[in-house]
Amino acid sequence: MRDQILQMLEETDGYISGEHLSRVIGVSRTAVWKNIKQLRDEGYEIDSVTNRGYRLCKKPDLLQAECIMRHLHTSVVGTRLEVLKSVDSTNEEIKRRAAAGEKSGLVIAAEQQTGGKGRLGRTWQSDSGGIYFTILLRPELPPNEISGVTLAAGYAICMAVRDYTGLDARIKWPNDIIIGNRKVCGILTEMTAQTDRVDYIAIGIGVNVNHREFPEEIAQKATSLYIEGGKVIERNAFFACMLKHLDETIAEFLTGVEMHENKIQFKTLCATLNRHVTASKSGKKIEGTAVGLTNEGELIIEEDNGTRVIVNSGDVVVQGIY
Ligand code: BTN
Repeated sequence: MRDQILQMLEETDGYISGEHLSRVIGVSRTAVWKNIKQLRDEGYEIDSVTNRGYRLCKKPDLLQAECIMRHLHTSVVGTRLEVLKSVDSTNEEIKRRAAAGEKSGLVIAAEQQTGGKGRLGRTWQSDSGGIYFTILLRPELPPNEISGVTLAAGYAICMAVRDYTGLDARIKWPNDIIIGNRKVCGILTEMTAQTDRVDYIAIGIGVNVNHREFPEEIAQKATSLYIEGGKVIERNAFFACMLKHLDETIAEFLTGVEMHENKIQFKTLCATLNRHVTASKSGKKIEGTAVGLTNEGELIIEEDNGTRVIVNSGDVVVQGIY
């Protein structure tokens, strides 16, 4: 009933009477009033005037699953979506759901994470204003092909940022998204697999959206869409835009549809290419120029003596980027 009332308030350009709401929805006026009160408690500003009714003045800046789903028509990613107020980590929550048998496509987002995780055992600052979410997928792929899904996800986020904000977002290989020389999004993919078959993957994505500043220790490395564009982002609409891009790109990748165009675009948007980089392979330090990507998305580094080395994971330091 809350959702129906909210939808009617959102679709009405002025006042709507309590009597009309109760008649259309088929509930008592007291029930309408109770739900209006609940919406106000959630942060909605609803004006009420005797003999005219209710008018929605302002929505809270909260992620709302119903609001996102109303504008979303995805085939896999986000066919089910839950927004939690607070959780240890959306990756951990997805792993618990996967262990309980949840199907492919579920997305869990949270306003706040108390134990947000980054790559290589780091923590991920999850203050309010960001979008933190994890996608559960059960792709029919061997474990060694999973890095491709993560690359596809990074590419999709990069395209969504460009599409929604017009900002010059780029990919720092393999899947950080940067604007200028600072990071705006990170991805942590975790997987459970048998030797030859993936059971599930949890693709965790953290985007700095409306942050105005960052703690001192990451202030030089991190940025947000607000800092770069100077405008507050409507997070529900932007979230829907990311899910749409993720659904399309990941579906193309998984169905093996020709990704040629996307691959070319990925290379164009990859800020790591043609830069001096430092990486490690089997414990050995590799230093040289990032000269290309293999068909599988691995990074090709040309060392100063001309030797080409293929790197497929780990931390790559790119000269000039955080
Ligand atoms: C990185 O760049 O180190 C990866 C950061 C990934 C952060 C996201 S936020 C949502 C999801 N839940 C987590 O605990 N981590 C990922």
